[in-house]
Amino acid sequence: MTDEAHETSTHESSTRDSYDAIAQTYTEWIADELTAKPHDRAVLGAFSELVLGTGSAEVLDMGCGPGRITSFLAALGLEPRGLDLSPAMVELARGLYPTLPFDVGSMTALPYADDSFSGLVAWYSTIHIPDEELSTVFAEAARVLRPGGWFQLAFQLGDRVDHFSDLAGFDVDLDFHRRSIDDVLTALAPHGFVPATRLEREPDRAGRFPETTGQGYLLVRKASL
Ligand SMILES: C[S@@+](CC[C@H](N)C(=O)[O-])C[C@H]1O[C@@H](n2cnc3c(N)ncnc32)[C@H](O)[C@@H]1O
Repeated sequence: MTDEAHETSTHESSTRDSYDAIAQTYTEWIADELTAKPHDRAVLGAFSELVLGTGSAEVLDMGCGPGRITSFLAALGLEPRGLDLSPAMVELARGLYPTLPFDVGSMTALPYADDSFSGLVAWYSTIHIPDEELSTVFAEAARVLRPGGWFQLAFQLGDRVDHFSDLAGFDVDLDFHRRSIDDVLTALAPHGFVPATRLEREPDRAGRFPETTGQGYLLVRKASL
């Protein structure tokens, strides 16, 4: 796979430029986050076991950022590749994890053939997809996922859009779409995804990585043929 160009929308350009600007700082800040989040590790562990149970280990980490989740999945025995909109993020991921494959691209137009993967992860990445583009993203997810494959999402819970123009002192133009698990399930269902596990966690307000919202974890499966 190559770093394919595709037509970007205005919000996609600003999301890409914003993550390009904060890539290095974000990467350093988030590096140890999984060690502080036992629920996250448990969710990814269960996902990995379920994917391996299909008899195939190929998974895609959509919106992989600096590749920390991609690398965690590899350590659990999966064969992951990462994809991210931000070239700077992908460059960092390639530097940190040189044995893993990473591509620049958008989850609105995945540069992979139909039925390429047995698992997909969208770990705090659909949070930047506006409601009107969720259907495109989930249609793409359904296209590249094999029948019976698993799709794990994680996102902040809520029912509003938070806009940031400054993050850690960097000029950004980023929308964070907070959603309920029901809303995300409703958007997934028309694409043949059926719910498997839904988990809501209260915000971790005091930890090293404080949160202001609850966290949603949603595992769905693509219906078998
Ligand atoms: C909050 S970060 C999460 C990164 C990573 N999943 C993690 O947990 O560390 C969101 C990531 O989603 C990526 N992203 C946003 N919109 C995207 C799109 N349409 N296609 C691919 N990646 C996207 C951003 O570039 C950014 O790296």
